[in-house]
Amino acid sequence: MSIPTPTDNPVSDAGPWLPQADAPAGLPDVATLARLANELFSNAPGSATPAAASLGSGGGDSISATLPYTAPVTSVASNPAPPGSPLAGPGGTGTGVPGVAIPQGHVPGANLAPSSPIYVLSLGNRAPALAPHAISHDGVPDLAQSVAPALEPRFGGAALGTEPVELERPSAPGVPSSGYYFLNEGGQPAHAHREALKPGQSVSAESFGLPGDDFLRSLSGERHGAPAPGGLDRAGSYYFAEDERKQASYAKSAHPPFDVNAVRRDFPILQERINGRQLVWFDNAATTQKPQAVIDRLAYFYAHENSNIHRAAHTIAGRATDAYEGARETVRRFLNASSTEEIIFVRGTTEGINLVAKSWGAKNVGEGDEIIVSHLEHHANIVPWQQLAAEKGAKLRVIPVDDSGQVRLDEYQRMLNGRTKIVSVTQVSNALGTVVPVQEIVAMAHRAGARTLVDGAQSVSHMRVDVQSIDADFFVFSGHKIFGPTGIGAVYGKREVLEDMPPWEGGGNMIQDVTFERTVFQGPPSRFEAGTGNIADAVGLGAALDYVTRIGIENIGRYEHDLLAYATHLLRPVPGVRLIGTADDKASVLSFVLKGYQPEEVGRALNEEGIAVRSGHHCAQPILGRFGVEATVRPSLAF
Ligand code: ALA
Repeated sequence: MSIPTPTDNPVSDAGPWLPQADAPAGLPDVATLARLANELFSNAPGSATPAAASLGSGGGDSISATLPYTAPVTSVASNPAPPGSPLAGPGGTGTGVPGVAIPQGHVPGANLAPSSPIYVLSLGNRAPALAPHAISHDGVPDLAQSVAPALEPRFGGAALGTEPVELERPSAPGVPSSGYYFLNEGGQPAHAHREALKPGQSVSAESFGLPGDDFLRSLSGERHGAPAPGGLDRAGSYYFAEDERKQASYAKSAHPPFDVNAVRRDFPILQERINGRQLVWFDNAATTQKPQAVIDRLAYFYAHENSNIHRAAHTIAGRATDAYEGARETVRRFLNASSTEEIIFVRGTTEGINLVAKSWGAKNVGEGDEIIVSHLEHHANIVPWQQLAAEKGAKLRVIPVDDSGQVRLDEYQRMLNGRTKIVSVTQVSNALGTVVPVQEIVAMAHRAGARTLVDGAQSVSHMRVDVQSIDADFFVFSGHKIFGPTGIGAVYGKREVLEDMPPWEGGGNMIQDVTFERTVFQGPPSRFEAGTGNIADAVGLGAALDYVTRIGIENIGRYEHDLLAYATHLLRPVPGVRLIGTADDKASVLSFVLKGYQPEEVGRALNEEGIAVRSGHHCAQPILGRFGVEATVRPSLAF
């Protein structure tokens, strides 16, 4: 296969699709770039696969003759990104150069041609479409993927192009060949039922291999029958059905069709092959993967907007500041906070909780005071409070959970008293998946005169969060758990609470005036953002929240609910499996242990199949200890 050089241009050597430009001094010219690209793609990983062999390689074949799919490429006119918009960035829909639209993907190789004084190569975007890849083995035919669009309108990216090839699925070493994988009722791997999708066909959960509405309703029906006694072995699907209120709200919400295969194509990493299998990412509670829109937004920032913020009169500083503050507004809107002054950027949930403990806590917690957390907490919502308690002579108290992994509100009520200063709980348990009734917990704390913090690290990507309706004083989350970059997250704090808090770190950006005698601090949020923050990743976080918003968090929650119900239904009866965490209300986590195997062994066996799960203590040792285990295998799902 080859990329046409400028002289291959079928229209003319200086055809309209291939703007000619002299390369600036020090940069290679167009012909050199195209030749380098040809060399790169002819050595692309996967080019030795049978599918690739049939394509031929190198030798000046034109791409249009050798690409294995014939579906019409998306027309240039459908480029939805106006010139100069962030979506018209270097890796996505356009050139990244205001006013110039290179027809990427329309004429192969055209995006290799510099079209303006700003030279941006889109090789990263084109490579997956041009390089033949290894054979998919997840049951989703590649042919369908090659012709069906991604959810996000853009060119190139994760377009694929090989015929589906079915292979024998060998057993993973050390794991019995049946009984330990997710089998459907007929004993076949569930993926065997997925059917090829026609181009343009909308995909429902059912066509993706999930059971139909009737089946899912029947799972709920089991739950709404006689509830089984508490414990891990209760019959039926009792613990993964929704409560009545949620069912009613799902029934009411008008939702557009949810095309999971289109969503999948928005995430380039999902085309990776691990041990010959297409990657199945079931480690979303540890971190989520990033859609092309986020990757493109980061690239655009560094290509066009990168500067320090709030500090200079030059144009680029203005762009960076606008992008950063725009992201703050996106976070505000996503959480429904009342003002951007209530949104502080931090590295993530851990830093957010530390900020509150070290600023609000240092000022408001004293000797003999009490801090309440739940037994479900991640270490990040235990250790900072423990440190604070040790420093102040305060006491850390723990809300117990029942055998399903749900917090005991009756016990919690008994714990609250006049010494309770703050109640800090997770909204969704990272280890068990329990959805905690935080609104109730917050209301009870407020009645006792205590402040509240909700750890939203595991909730924001699965359910709508409205901080005004939860009414917590603080809400904290991490960008990387919601399809955004690592190293960025946010603290929401009620304005009146933040205004009364001292800074926790000192430096630039957070001051109004400094002399050697004294410093006047900025108000919130700048007061809590000392130094140069993670500007680009804040912008990337904004893009991630926009992406989730475009899909619709209710659509996401609904689909994930069905997926969790289905997965639990299949996993629970597997001989030797014990589910850890069986609360009625759960989100996207299936923690389990398998008799006779260490969690790590199961994790390794799944990895042999290209399936990524976390096995270990999930930074939540106390709650695993509560269930008598030190570690679990934890598949964690995302839409
Ligand atoms: N908190 C992350 C997890 O649950 C790291 O895996």
